Amino acid sequence: MSPAMAMIDQRNEEDHIIESEYHKGVKNMYEKGYLHKVPKKYIFPASERPTTSMNDSNSPKENLQLPIIDFAELIGPNRPQVLRSLANACEQYGFFQLVNHSISDDITRCMIDVIGRFFDLPMEERSKYMTTDMRAAVRYGTSFSQTKDSVFCWRDFLKLICHPLPDFVPHWPASPSDFQEVVATYAKETKQLFMAIMKAILESLGIMEDNQEEMTKEKDNNDNNNIMKELDNGSQMLVTNFYPPCPEPDLTLGMHPHSDYGFLTLLLQDEVEGLQIQFQDKWLTVQPIPNAFVVNIGDHLEIFSNGKYKSVLHRVLVNEVKSRISIASLHSLPFNCTVKPSPKLIDEENPKRYMDTDFGSFLAYVSTRETKKKDFLESRKLTNS
Ligand code: OGA
Ligand code: NI
Repeated sequence: MSPAMAMIDQRNEEDHIIESEYHKGVKNMYEKGYLHKVPKKYIFPASERPTTSMNDSNSPKENLQLPIIDFAELIGPNRPQVLRSLANACEQYGFFQLVNHSISDDITRCMIDVIGRFFDLPMEERSKYMTTDMRAAVRYGTSFSQTKDSVFCWRDFLKLICHPLPDFVPHWPASPSDFQEVVATYAKETKQLFMAIMKAILESLGIMEDNQEEMTKEKDNNDNNNIMKELDNGSQMLVTNFYPPCPEPDLTLGMHPHSDYGFLTLLLQDEVEGLQIQFQDKWLTVQPIPNAFVVNIGDHLEIFSNGKYKSVLHRVLVNEVKSRISIASLHSLPFNCTVKPSPKLIDEENPKRYMDTDFGSFLAYVSTRETKKKDFLESRKLTNS
């Protein structure tokens, strides 16, 4: 048999994997030794594959040095300069790396470690949390939207709803035995860090004064305190991702291009690269920096900032050798709140660019279709801009 025939033969073999196996996730198939080739279920159309979409497959892979924001500087005397760099990062990239932040190495290391041990549990243990209910406190699954994706992504996930913590922690996995404690600590810390970054972002948008400033702006500050209060009481979801090694990484993706829905996402990744963001019409790989957070603007902040800060498309590549773990903490307003452009960013030059929107309509939207790219946000745009 020619090598080409042998390859087709092997692919056919992978394609005898029954549909229910795909739904148990990529890691399970990998552990069972099924994956010598990428099964058809995971092969993206040629135009969407890593090396053919936008990038010229002959050009060397390009890495991107994202703007770096030093958190310690942000809360020190250099705040005004750092706020300018922050505004610049949000406008130009929609992404930045946050270093010197308030969360200790110990907490981030323990978090990646416990998530790794969770994904290492036997399938029977992990599958207890499989559900299609998008509002479940805990949801284990695979791909992006398992019920709607025609092509599956090379990714398994565990999603945890976090707010209010005391209500949800008891529903989280009790195995590994330190899971609830480690993850609850991490959730608390990332929430605090999110609030500190949001305060800086509101300042960088010019819609929030530092607290010590003039009392005459009391009304303005009340409005801003309201958004800070709403965010403090807002939703938080931890999305933990596991990407097993892939025999043919050029045929598939760990996550297809998407934007995140919330205000901000704080992403912690291990040392394995994989995240790419779209920058000036190219896909560029984000170099992991140990113990830094990759922070990105979500759709809700794009709406709130009336388009000044944009959510940016990103995707995940997989590789042949190493598995990869990442943990995204997604933050927004409470589920029952309306997201709308801040009145302070609307004037004659800048008319309101987005409709008011709420989580209900977002969930309705994503549950009825295969979501790709920024199509939810597109559906919220007003046409007068
Ligand atoms: C996400 C995401 C990127 C990554 O969870 O929304 O984009 O590197 N993750 O896993
Ligand atoms: Ni994302």
